[in-house]
Amino acid sequence: MEQSIRPRRLRRTPSLRKMVRETRLSPESLIWPIFVREGQGIYEEIPSLPGQYHYSPDQLYRALDRAKASGVSKVILFGLPEHKDEIGSGAWATDGIVQQGIRAIKALDPEFYVITDVCMCEYTSHGHCGILCGHDVDNDKTLEVLAKTALSHAQAGADMVAPSDMMDGRVEAIREVLDESGFQNVPIMSYAAKYASFFYGPFRDAAGSAPSFGDRRSYQMDWHNGREAMRECELDVLEGADILMIKPAMSYLDLVHEAKQRFDLPIAAYSVSGEYAMIKATAKAGLIDEYGVMCESAVSIFRAGADILITYFANELAEAIRKGDIG
Ligand code: PBG
Repeated sequence: MEQSIRPRRLRRTPSLRKMVRETRLSPESLIWPIFVREGQGIYEEIPSLPGQYHYSPDQLYRALDRAKASGVSKVILFGLPEHKDEIGSGAWATDGIVQQGIRAIKALDPEFYVITDVCMCEYTSHGHCGILCGHDVDNDKTLEVLAKTALSHAQAGADMVAPSDMMDGRVEAIREVLDESGFQNVPIMSYAAKYASFFYGPFRDAAGSAPSFGDRRSYQMDWHNGREAMRECELDVLEGADILMIKPAMSYLDLVHEAKQRFDLPIAAYSVSGEYAMIKATAKAGLIDEYGVMCESAVSIFRAGADILITYFANELAEAIRKGDIG
């Protein structure tokens, strides 16, 4: 039979393959999560996240140097406070650890874009993402402390806030407080569809935020559900979110894709700690090529529809883009 249709024609040379690439990546679309910890002179590798570090505020210049050297211009900041209490008051303290971290970064470079994770779990003694009422998290009481926390981040100089608690109505509560206080221009990236995922394990070790009893299933989503994710996204759109996030990424690409089709806001995906740790550990065992799998996974998330990727591999990916291996 005479073959006239030959898709291989466009795969013949690297230059041709690049010309017809459907997915383009830019370092501007990458956000690197970093962990700031109370203290001085701390620059310690995180055992559960090889290649990632705890920084005390005075050491954050190292993170900035690393990011800038690779072309990453945005971080999302997580804090490890010295003390925790029942209501997580460290989360909104003027001299809280995230607030110190924001100021330290802005003192080094006011242009460097700082996003903050807004949640209570790193600050509460019980490790849940809000104010407890018995053994359950009280939604509406938690909204107040989340709004206070987001405001304190903006006051410290945060460029964007990202609530990750999964309380109902938090985007509206945060938007209202920010607007009242003159922060109309601080966008909200909502963790719109955040699942009660086992993939957060390494992060909880890194951030010391595992719940002391029970789990997060009464507020984070059940991973059997996809339509519910669209409902969560829709509510956040109505409440005034600027960017919608799906989390985790790799096992949830169906939702990244669907959210991209349905909503006109930028879609972010968070490739979480467990996704990173799996690649690291499997590569260390000699079973996969770390660089290749990192590149392929990131591209698949963008191909599914993500506009923005939050990833612990941000620096390595930015370098891969610069080298032309992806993007
Ligand atoms: C805080 C928060 C978590 C993550 C981001 N923000 C942990 C959790 O919900 O338990 C997970 C990030 C990761 O695993 O990389 N609520």
